[in-house]
Amino acid sequence: MRKLAIGMFDSGVGGLTVLKEVKALLPHEHIVYFGDTARLPYGNKSPQTVTRYALESALFLLTKGIKLLVIACNTSSAFALNILQKKLPIPVIGVIDPGAKEAVGHTKNGRIGVIGTKGTIKSTAYERSIKKISPDTAVISRPCPLFVPIVEEGLENDEVAHLMAEKYLHDLRRSDIDVLVMGCTHYPALEKVIKKVMGKGVTIVHTGRETAKEVKNVLEKKGLLNDTAKGSYEYFVTDAPEAFEEIGGRLLGEQLTRVKSLKNLDFKDFLLSS
Ligand code: DGL
Repeated sequence: MRKLAIGMFDSGVGGLTVLKEVKALLPHEHIVYFGDTARLPYGNKSPQTVTRYALESALFLLTKGIKLLVIACNTSSAFALNILQKKLPIPVIGVIDPGAKEAVGHTKNGRIGVIGTKGTIKSTAYERSIKKISPDTAVISRPCPLFVPIVEEGLENDEVAHLMAEKYLHDLRRSDIDVLVMGCTHYPALEKVIKKVMGKGVTIVHTGRETAKEVKNVLEKKGLLNDTAKGSYEYFVTDAPEAFEEIGGRLLGEQLTRVKSLKNLDFKDFLLSS
């Protein structure tokens, strides 16, 4: 069991910011990553659709013989964590609870900001998770949908990133929060500009980093940690592997190899056969 891979899925390339953290913390683990590039973005889709996609992605990864599943996508975690935890025979970790826990641990004034896709913010998943740990904490949330294409276009250091951050974060900056959760896979690429706009008094929480710690905890607890092998990484995407390699290489800070296209994968056939 220890030797089996960790499965990880996202709507596309953004989840590589989570993979990067898991890889850094657990360099001996094999990771199989599934990016649903044919159907992204998930951030503006309905809970029903995102949940269906999540189930399909998880079933695909199960065929790879994984020991644990990470839902790297915030929107998918917001809508589908419970159902995947119920349905799957292996541990399933989402990115919301680890981020929420870290945020609660950092706030001194009990006021936390959360940014994410429209879907994640509308779901109130972060708010519920934070309030479960600390019911009196105030949670102020804002969707920042244009951050995703800004990162995918490689414009994180361009003035357009700064302008959008000013626009999106204006109200949050005035709402006296002392912690801000980056509740979307792509936002760590904008961490510098987000920090600059929010100012020094606000701690920024990287949900992927906290999720990696949770993955380590769970593997340790279950005796599933692989600490002898050299880690390996395999990527499956449902469309445009070249774009995945190009953007993913930037997010990961290294060239991606072993990206396989599942263009012809018909989920209906796959669901019937699994
Ligand atoms: N991966 C998504 C998330 O973290 C962002 C991109 C999308 O909308 O598909 O919510």
